[in-house]
Amino acid sequence: MTGSAPTDPPTDPPTDGLDLVALRRDVVTAAREAGELLLEGFRGAGRVRAKGAGGDLVTEYDERAEAMLRDRLGALLPGATFVGEEGGGQAGEGLCWYVDPIDGTGNFAHGHPWFCVSIGLWRGDAPLVGVVHAPAMGLTVDGHRGGGVRREGAPARVSTTAKLEDALLATGFPHDRATRPDNNYRAYVALDASTHGVRRCASAALELAVVADGGYDGFWDLSLAPWDVAAAVLLVEEAGGRVTDLAGEPLRLRPRVEILATNGLLHDPLRHALAHARALPPIHEVP
Ligand code: IPD
Ligand code: CA
Ligand code: CA
Repeated sequence: MTGSAPTDPPTDPPTDGLDLVALRRDVVTAAREAGELLLEGFRGAGRVRAKGAGGDLVTEYDERAEAMLRDRLGALLPGATFVGEEGGGQAGEGLCWYVDPIDGTGNFAHGHPWFCVSIGLWRGDAPLVGVVHAPAMGLTVDGHRGGGVRREGAPARVSTTAKLEDALLATGFPHDRATRPDNNYRAYVALDASTHGVRRCASAALELAVVADGGYDGFWDLSLAPWDVAAAVLLVEEAGGRVTDLAGEPLRLRPRVEILATNGLLHDPLRHALAHARALPPIHEVP
């Protein structure tokens, strides 16, 4: 359910003379170039290996796309640090790129088109530019602080759904969900039954971009990485939505990120419903 945004974007952080319009354009170009590389490997016979449990995979295209983006983004802002899922890196107080070369690697490896390149530029705790590009679906959602959000060049806004029972939501589950007591199953079941449904398509960055574009009314996840959310936090906020942790506190890009992102109207109702569901006995029986 789409429409005009219920909340204003946050006030601008200092940009110290950065041309965010030009940067956003150049980041979109870099993301699309990486996307073309990914499409060369999509549904192909590239190398895939397991990184961890529960379908935590990495392919040669994760590594090649990240290497390409380190080059391209490094040339745009030579002083910025770079944190990527495959190559790591350390953020400082200044400008930092957070890059997930493929968010939704499991989908990519299985020939499922729901995956994206996610690029966020932050200064300290403030997101400045965000680009999420899903090449197999021909979808780019991009934004910059104070500059709004576009989906394929058209203005994008969060939804105006005001009742939780009318909401379409999305969530995700940690790769170690088979062994982890706090695996999100309880909250998923409770919210799926009391709303229009909870989707789980396994690309947090893309799901958050769809919140920014009004397709989902809210998204939550208990355990993400900074590169999963860095781009889309900017997109949701700039599109008029709200992003916090599950306690309603400001989101910080810690090594493990707990996130609640909504159209703003549903933020407190969804936060309370999640708190209630998570206080019930967990569901973690695994055969
Ligand atoms: C994963 C996706 C998924 C989330 C996982 C992430 P990856 O990233 O964002 O939605 O539930 O926790 O690890 O491994 O596909 O880059
Ligand atoms: Ca990811
Ligand atoms: Ca990834």
